[in-house]
Amino acid sequence: MNIVKILLVLIFLPIALFSQELLINTSNRNTTSLNGNWNYIVDPYENGYYSFHSEVFDQKKEFSPSAFYNNFHTTDKAALVEYDFDKSPVMKVPGDWTTQKENLFYYEGTVWLKKSFDYTLKENKRLFIYFGAINYKADVYLNGTKLGVHEGGFTPFNFEVTSIVKAKDNYLVVKVDNKRFKEAVPTNNTDWWNYGGITRDVLLIEEENVLIQDYCVQLKKNHRNIIAGFVQLKDGKEAEKVTITIPELKIEHELPVQADGKVSFQIEVANAIQYWSPSEPKLYEVAIKTKYQTLKDQIGFRTIETKGADILLNGRSIYLRGISLHEEINGRRANTEADAIKLLTWAKELGCNYIRLAHYPHNEHMLRLADKMGLLVWEEIPVYWTIDFSNIATFNNAKNQLTELIKRDKNRASVIIWSMANETPLSEARNSFLIRLVNHTKMLDSTRLISAALLTRSENGIGIVDDNMGQYFDIVAFNQYRGWYGGDLITAPDTKWTIPYNKPVVISEFGGGAKQGLHGPKEERWNEEYQEYLYQQNLLMIEKMPNIRGMSPWILTDFRSPRRQLPGIQDGFNRKGLVSDKGIKKKAFYALQSFYKKIAARYK
Ligand code: GCU
Repeated sequence: MNIVKILLVLIFLPIALFSQELLINTSNRNTTSLNGNWNYIVDPYENGYYSFHSEVFDQKKEFSPSAFYNNFHTTDKAALVEYDFDKSPVMKVPGDWTTQKENLFYYEGTVWLKKSFDYTLKENKRLFIYFGAINYKADVYLNGTKLGVHEGGFTPFNFEVTSIVKAKDNYLVVKVDNKRFKEAVPTNNTDWWNYGGITRDVLLIEEENVLIQDYCVQLKKNHRNIIAGFVQLKDGKEAEKVTITIPELKIEHELPVQADGKVSFQIEVANAIQYWSPSEPKLYEVAIKTKYQTLKDQIGFRTIETKGADILLNGRSIYLRGISLHEEINGRRANTEADAIKLLTWAKELGCNYIRLAHYPHNEHMLRLADKMGLLVWEEIPVYWTIDFSNIATFNNAKNQLTELIKRDKNRASVIIWSMANETPLSEARNSFLIRLVNHTKMLDSTRLISAALLTRSENGIGIVDDNMGQYFDIVAFNQYRGWYGGDLITAPDTKWTIPYNKPVVISEFGGGAKQGLHGPKEERWNEEYQEYLYQQNLLMIEKMPNIRGMSPWILTDFRSPRRQLPGIQDGFNRKGLVSDKGIKKKAFYALQSFYKKIAARYK
């Protein structure tokens, strides 16, 4: 092997060693949870990462006992060691430090977290470490070896650690940095709390040498009886076969795997498929088998398309009775399945058949619950407000977050819309950025609809949607805040709207704030009566809009925001929730509920 090849191997070996190809459907894999108490060290000066002359410890050749990821201990009483994870406090993972540690409430910076574990890896098995999400940037080390870096606070990632894990005393150290900055995604200005931490599950995943890494099993676009997709093996060899079974549809399909470990398929389905819908959320057991492994998933089959101004689910016109949600409950990150069940139960009580998961990818169990409970879903990445649209690193970060989101959720029947952005200011740079994201989305998944929450403006009392990005989207969605950020409520129902697209229109946000329990005249802001009246008047206006096919009012529950400082009313919360941060419904909840009851009857 000549010197060039040796150099190439050395350059690419580290990347190959710590492959980041995402393993999907972790719930059906052989996992060991690393959730629970992790020791942590708050490191505002990143003293555990840089030397006093700002050299990066993990870029240096020699061993650095001062580097926190080395978790250095010594019996030498003369040695200088100025940190000790095992003597440091603990915090819960998954969890955010904002709401776990009072002295970290406003902290934005680096916190190191460490988990020790033993693991006996059997012969011919492989081991991966999987993170559901870490906000915002993570440098991950195992036993002092750097596994890699991940940027983006809401999507999963994993590293292979087969050659590093030991039977005893492994130490997994994660540097979490939630500092905001202009080039990030989201940028440094948002209307939600910047919860720092390992906010989702951490799993060890034990796999076979040849493993099922990724797959897609969905109806082929524009076909109601062809199931199409692919299976991607990791290190699969040509001789491998993959079998796809869907017992209820009497499907057992064996396929040869190609040289790259991938197999694509199209299966004509002779038996009648019971299509997934909110009223009948039918899920089929799908099994993907190789001679080493079987992965099972619960998958629904449905079609979603637009036709002129109509949205058709399984060929039938639907109206999206929705609500927007942050991943938040009781003033903290909603990071458990129980939290998700509570939030989605409120949505069902409202009469929703649709939810907008704002403004970033939520927990995977929200999507699996939406599949089971019959809720259509709009998912989005945090391309929010004034992103640095001219920055290529920013674009690549947004593209990576979108890729990880689609990889994770492409088998969820409930997901019908991928959203590219929220309320981004019009500019050529923004359009170029979003058009490239649209094209990337279509390349990854041509079966779902694409949209974004646009801004509107009004002129002489007429509502105008003239963001030219609308031409690139299947659904024209926009946020309008009549009666809250402008415009009166009395004349709202008579407002005319001009929307220059013959496409379905969805109001991605409207609403207003109310302090739960504050009552008075409907003319006085912050009363529950004001919020109720705002809903009633906006609903009358929206019903008359051209091509209106649904909405996701802002928002299901009150949520923390550093932008909302009004004492005695906001106290650090955005109060537009229909449910308070204490879980108490406000009067506007019932105004929307009765509207949806009327709409549902019309679409029986
Ligand atoms: C905007 C934005 C939301 C924000 C809301 C508000 O439309 O999309 O993230 O919370 O308005 O001002 O409450």
